[in-house]
Amino acid sequence: MSHWKRWFDERMNEKVSLVDYIREVWIYNKDLFYDIVGNRIKVPQEVLEIGCGTALEILAPLSARGFRVTGIDKEKDMIELAKHNFKMLGLKGRFINQDIFKFNTNKKFDLVLSIGLIEHFSKNKILELVKLHKKLSEKYIVLIVPTKHQRRSERKMRVKAPDWIDLNFKYLLDITKKSGLKFVSKIAYGDIIRVDYIPPVIAKMIRETGYAYTIGILCKV
Ligand SMILES: C[S@@+](CC[C@H](N)C(=O)[O-])C[C@H]1O[C@@H](n2cnc3c(N)ncnc32)[C@H](O)[C@@H]1O
Repeated sequence: MSHWKRWFDERMNEKVSLVDYIREVWIYNKDLFYDIVGNRIKVPQEVLEIGCGTALEILAPLSARGFRVTGIDKEKDMIELAKHNFKMLGLKGRFINQDIFKFNTNKKFDLVLSIGLIEHFSKNKILELVKLHKKLSEKYIVLIVPTKHQRRSERKMRVKAPDWIDLNFKYLLDITKKSGLKFVSKIAYGDIIRVDYIPPVIAKMIRETGYAYTIGILCKV
């Protein structure tokens, strides 16, 4: 069994059911698929997630809305889990078991994204990986990573996520520029402070300094 499968099993086992897990990850990532993705690309355009894992975070809600989705993952058991999850939810998707560094295709997607992938590689490899996102995309790419603040949520887990390096906005901007991508907007969600008593615009500004659990970047190719 792959390390990622053990990690996801532990996360899912904490929940009462698959629905419980989905509710949590869909609510958590809602800004990403409604505001960021939904405002840029339209149904039935094509989305590729590199390192799709369970496919629950983003591919499932996008497929439910009518996007054509493809997930690629180097772990066979993660691809099996993604297929199983889609079957349980009655969703359509295409899944490929392949290491992205060995993936050879001329096909391009409207949006190529990854969530929790690039931070597990060395900085040289990250550059190569971001260039691969670009090569596979016709329009947009999105890179999402956890912040140093998210480490706290790992502490109580028995199975830790594979080691990662903390990447900030400055680094994300730099790496996308080096890859020849055009910056569109910052992405930041997962409030660290209570935001219900401050104006949403201020809360957004605070998150975009990196004071959030999850940050990312939206670029055009
Ligand atoms: C944090 S998980 C992604 C979670 C996913 N967003 C979801 O909805 O469950 C990262 C995934 O990247 C995959 N991965 C790591 N290196 C990879 C590579 N070289 N090629 C393809 N997938 C890779 C791992 O197997 C793992 O499933």
